[in-house]
Amino acid sequence: MDRLDFNGKEYNPETLALGYGYDAAFSEGAVKPPVFLTSTFQFKSAMDGKKFFELAYGLREKEENEDIGLIYSRINNPNLQIFEERIAAWDKTEEGAVFASGMAAIMTSIFCHAQPGDTIISSAPVYGGTHYLFEHILPKYKINVVQIAAGENLVSGILDKAKEIGEDKIKMLYLETPANPSNKMVDIEAISKASKEIAKKGGQDKVLVAVDNTFLGPVFQRPALFGADLVIYSATKFIGGHSDLIAGVVTGSKELIKPIKDFRTIFGTMANPFTGWMLLRSLETLSIRMRRQAKNAVKLAELLQEHPKVKRVMFPTLFEKGSRQREIFEKQCTGPGSLIAFEIDGGEEKAFKLLDSFKVFRLAVSLGGTESLVEHPMTMTHSDVDPAELETYGVTAGVIRMSVGIEHSSDLKRDVEQALDQI
Ligand SMILES: Cc1ncc(COP(=O)(O)O)c(C=O)c1O
Repeated sequence: MDRLDFNGKEYNPETLALGYGYDAAFSEGAVKPPVFLTSTFQFKSAMDGKKFFELAYGLREKEENEDIGLIYSRINNPNLQIFEERIAAWDKTEEGAVFASGMAAIMTSIFCHAQPGDTIISSAPVYGGTHYLFEHILPKYKINVVQIAAGENLVSGILDKAKEIGEDKIKMLYLETPANPSNKMVDIEAISKASKEIAKKGGQDKVLVAVDNTFLGPVFQRPALFGADLVIYSATKFIGGHSDLIAGVVTGSKELIKPIKDFRTIFGTMANPFTGWMLLRSLETLSIRMRRQAKNAVKLAELLQEHPKVKRVMFPTLFEKGSRQREIFEKQCTGPGSLIAFEIDGGEEKAFKLLDSFKVFRLAVSLGGTESLVEHPMTMTHSDVDPAELETYGVTAGVIRMSVGIEHSSDLKRDVEQALDQI
């Protein structure tokens, strides 16, 4: 199946997820792509082997209609390639690269596109692992990261910071939207515009905009449509969707993804073929799962909002009408996702009591799986971030994060009510 139909119109991603990028004739007519558990591939001739390597190492340009053949599973593998084509189509981008984890995708993309002396300006807060990479690892390689709180002043904050550091030093603007766990949104289009302004002032061709789209994408948010250059995911979350694998992915233009794949080949950060096969299975139900999860989450967010023991709920459908956050949500997203953060009185002690009282929700980090999970950001996912800094993002010791699954909504509702009754 091709990406475009006979009239040149692109099929919808839900349809492409079932057939695009796979020709059953190459696999004995199997309707589903088999799992290609092989480290290496047999060449038809020595000349083929030579030609494939020339392309893999960029020793010559591709001839018309020439595809790089299969060589070795650190370079390419059918399960990974089919998944990459399908996820790129979903994001409305040209190409994808799949990785052993979300962190591998983030790390490989940054090391590929940033060099010693460069500065990355990032929205804050970001996922704890990304925060650690920014604070403790990139500085060792003289890649400087400046973090600015997501919110109304982010664009002006980025422009001012770029001026202070020198626009020519800015290599990338890195965003996580919605922010984890506060659900604070960043206007991707406005940041893309700012990146062009910085590039112009700094005399650079481009300042890249990279967006961690793990929370809403690709079903409810497609950053490339708003000017993002790199769309990054922890595929461990919604894309994998069953809490049974670890993977990551980045999509973008061929020009930007090709060098990332070259770094991946040398770093060895690719996903394994079985994970690629699992991701293909998961992609088929992604839209159904995410929509059901969001539907459950909307109901729970409303219940929490009304509950006397809950002080504050952070969830997109509850953003105040007419507010800037609401405006960004309505412009950029087609659904709210299923991550809810809410605050109760009584700090860590009460929060832990509540967490220990759930019966259907499981007490675990991670998110986006079919089962509902709860966790305590301050002492778990975000424990590397200074608590005082976290509080400035609205993440206090009384904040709990929920990842809502596909269970029956009435059971989830009863579970939340009975847990809140315990505190
Ligand atoms: C928003 C976000 N980005 C990236 C990551 C890292 O992904 P992984 O655990 O697959 O390496 C996570 C993991 O929790 C995440 O929540």
